[in-house]
Amino acid sequence: MTDQIQPTVVLKDGLPMPQFGLGVFQTPPETTARVVKMAVDEGYRAVDTASMYRNEEGVGKALDGRTDVFITTKLGNSDHGFDEALRAFEDSARRLRRGALDLYLIHWPRPRVNRYVESWKALVRLQQEGRVRSIGVSNFNQSHLERIIAETGVTPAVNQIELHPRFQQKTLREFHDERGIKTESWSPLGRGALLSEPAIVSMAAKHRKTPAQVVIRWHLDSGLIVIPKTVRLERLRENVGALAFRLDDDDIGRIEALDSPAGRIGPDPATAAF
Ligand SMILES: NC(=O)c1ccc[n+]([C@@H]2O[C@H](COP(=O)([O-])OP(=O)(O)OC[C@H]3O[C@@H](n4cnc5c(N)ncnc54)[C@H](OP(=O)(O)O)[C@@H]3O)[C@@H](O)[C@H]2O)c1
Repeated sequence: MTDQIQPTVVLKDGLPMPQFGLGVFQTPPETTARVVKMAVDEGYRAVDTASMYRNEEGVGKALDGRTDVFITTKLGNSDHGFDEALRAFEDSARRLRRGALDLYLIHWPRPRVNRYVESWKALVRLQQEGRVRSIGVSNFNQSHLERIIAETGVTPAVNQIELHPRFQQKTLREFHDERGIKTESWSPLGRGALLSEPAIVSMAAKHRKTPAQVVIRWHLDSGLIVIPKTVRLERLRENVGALAFRLDDDDIGRIEALDSPAGRIGPDPATAAF
């Protein structure tokens, strides 16, 4: 168990959210309960799952109703629409063994399907009814955000987007800051590819830390919510070890210089075919 103090961010509706947590995308359903239990034993207090990851049951089994671990899950792409979203939420809450969830996100806007405003209205209803403590979105660009805010008057608390040193999303982050939306980084390690980047490797040597710890620390020092995924105990320990040091201004400048318009590794939400 780590004795690090867990940093938190306060969402626009007042809810404190751990700034660091475990992502479980591509964690196999049959090993998810074991991985989440190990993570909680190592001091993790937040888990990011989704109905599309097919492993909510494993998360629910590991946590078994405990409410001191912050659970985020997401509305699946095939569940857009008002009634569909309400039903999908009930299914997720049952699989997660929780009467109320901490944070529910729309996973992708799916602009071609064009039902994300209806879906957002369902999330607003779920929060009003106390079924979920906070609501947000994922993979929304500025125009998607502006549309749901204009049509409902409710601003999402969080937008979870692809974000790592090679793809820093500075323009969208500025818009989030103007509107009080917290930015959450998905694929924060660039799925591991970033960890052999020479600038990161040299900073790690300087601080006697690992490249993953440097990258996670950059997210934390940038005010981002960060959810690195791993299935291995030694990496769970390594990643939570990022809570224990700080980067200096020179490091931050060198990481900022890695940003590239070509750095995206996942789908572009504006053009994704699904
Ligand atoms: N909203 C969305 O559309 C969306 C999309 C993608 C991801 N996400 C969320 O963001 C979370 C994180 O993103 P991600 O899983 O795509 O990528 P990531 O966290 O950037 O990277 C995970 C990869 O890095 C490896 N890794 C983890 N810690 C490491 C370390 N200390 N040293 C070396 N390698 C390490 C993992 O391997 P091992 O597991 O083998 O250790 C895995 O292959 C997801 O799990 C999910 O919760 C959301």
